This record gives sequence, structure tokens and C-alpha cells, in this order.
Amino acid sequence: MSYSEFKNECSAQIDAQGHDRALMEATRSWFTLANGFGYSYHFESFGRPLIQYPQDIVQFQELISSTTPSLIIETGIAHGGSLVQSAAMLCLLDVIDGLDPRQSPRKVVGVDIDIRNHNREALDEHPLRFKMDLIEGSSIDPDIIKQVHQHAENYDKVLVSLDSNHTHDHVLAELNAYADLVSVDSYCVVFDTVIEDLPSGSFPDRPWDVGNNPKTAVNEWLQNNKNFTIDRKIDHKLLISVAPHGYLKRIS
Ligand SMILES: C[S@@+](CC[C@H](N)C(=O)[O-])C[C@H]1O[C@@H](n2cnc3c(N)ncnc32)[C@H](O)[C@@H]1O
Repeated sequence: MSYSEFKNECSAQIDAQGHDRALMEATRSWFTLANGFGYSYHFESFGRPLIQYPQDIVQFQELISSTTPSLIIETGIAHGGSLVQSAAMLCLLDVIDGLDPRQSPRKVVGVDIDIRNHNREALDEHPLRFKMDLIEGSSIDPDIIKQVHQHAENYDKVLVSLDSNHTHDHVLAELNAYADLVSVDSYCVVFDTVIEDLPSGSFPDRPWDVGNNPKTAVNEWLQNNKNFTIDRKIDHKLLISVAPHGYLKRIS
């Protein structure tokens, strides 16, 4: 089977699984149970905890390899795992392009309201630290938004990941602040849209819940931002994902 025949077969399978009611219900019920065990906290990238589901980690890696960003902007650093993963992928892109990763301008910029000392120290000592720029402050603070925009000034291919405070208002403000930096054909990935699909009260110690989360923000934001579209093929492929309707592709 040729590569194109293989991809066509995959496409048909993805479409079928994405519309299979029994599989969707099983996925939702599995997700709700796994969430109760803190499933997303159990993974690492190059020595740093990465608070993601494996499917989304692989998908983000696919987006990096297909869109070949020169800059990745991430809100929400936590232990730094997603930043390290992006830094590693950017190094690989450099190597593929015949560039020295230490000399290439490719970077990941991370923003977090609270970069805890132990996390900052671990990142400062990390071998891939040269690929990262860390900014401490709220991602919706005008000064921080300005700093990120200044970082992005000289970059032509930008990928954005929003994974900080998951309330509706915060994510809406982040989309308004950063989505315009995304290049055409690249993505703004909005994590934790799945909160809308989980039972109400799934995060009792957090301000977000059904009706107040990244998915409600995406729905509102897309009404006035027709240059982005939800890449539903990714949803149908992953099924298990914290970001259903959150893979927003810039189409114009
Ligand atoms: C889910 S964690 C990020 C996980 C990380 N992206 C990863 O995959 O490992 C959320 C982070 O968002 C940060 N955060 C919360 N409110 C924020 C805000 N207003 N601005 C920026 N970061 C914020 C928290 O301090 C926390 O470290």
C-alpha cells in the first residue's frame, strides 16, 4: 500500500471512529474515571513533569513537525514539561534543516503567573534551557502581552498553546491577546476544553466547571474570528483528548 493509499484508509477510519456513538460514549466514560485518578499528572518529558494526556502530546508533536514553527508560545508552564517537549522538538527541526540548535533563532516562550523556585531552578539547569524564554506574570496582563508580542516580532511561523487558567473569561482574554500571532496554516491549541464535557463538579477546588471553561470561551470567540476553524479531524483521530474543539487552525 502506498503512503497516499495508507493515509486515505486512515482518513476513512478516523471519520468512522469520530462518528461512532458507542466509542464516543466509552471514551467519555473512560475519561471521567481516569480524571478521578489525576491521569494527566503522570507523564514526563526529558525529566520534567508534563501535565498532558499522551494523545495530546503526540498531536502537539505532529503539529510541530507539520507546521515547522520558528516560535512556540505557551501559556502555563507549571513544572516545565510541555516547554521542554517543545524545546526538544524545535531542536529536531533545526537538525532537520541543517542548523545548529544553539545558533538557530527557533524558541519556545513560556508564560506563567507563578514560576515556582524549584521549577525555575530545574529549568535553568536543563540542557535544553537555551531554547526557552521564560516570562513570569499573568498571561492577560497588558505588559506581559506586550512582551510576548515583542518576542514574536521577528518570527514568521508561530504556534500557540493556551494552558494556564481555564476559566471562560481568562481563555477568552488569552485568545484575544495571542491568536493574532498565529501564522496562517498554524494552530492555536486551547487545552482543557474537555471540562465542558465532564460531569459538573469534576474540579471542586477550581473556579472552572461546565459552562465556564476553555470550550465555552472558544465557542464565543469563534463567532467573531472566522479566520480560525476547529480542526475536527484531530478530535476524531484522538478521541481521548483534553482539548476537544481546542485545535484551532488559522485558515486566513
Ligand atoms: C495546567 S498547568 C500548565 C501545564 C503545562 N503546560 C504542562 O503541559 O506541563 C497551568 C499553569 O498555569 C499557570 N497559570 C494560572 N493562572 C495563570 C495566569 N493568569 N497567567 C499565566 N499562567 C497562569 C499556573 O501557575 C500553572 O503553572
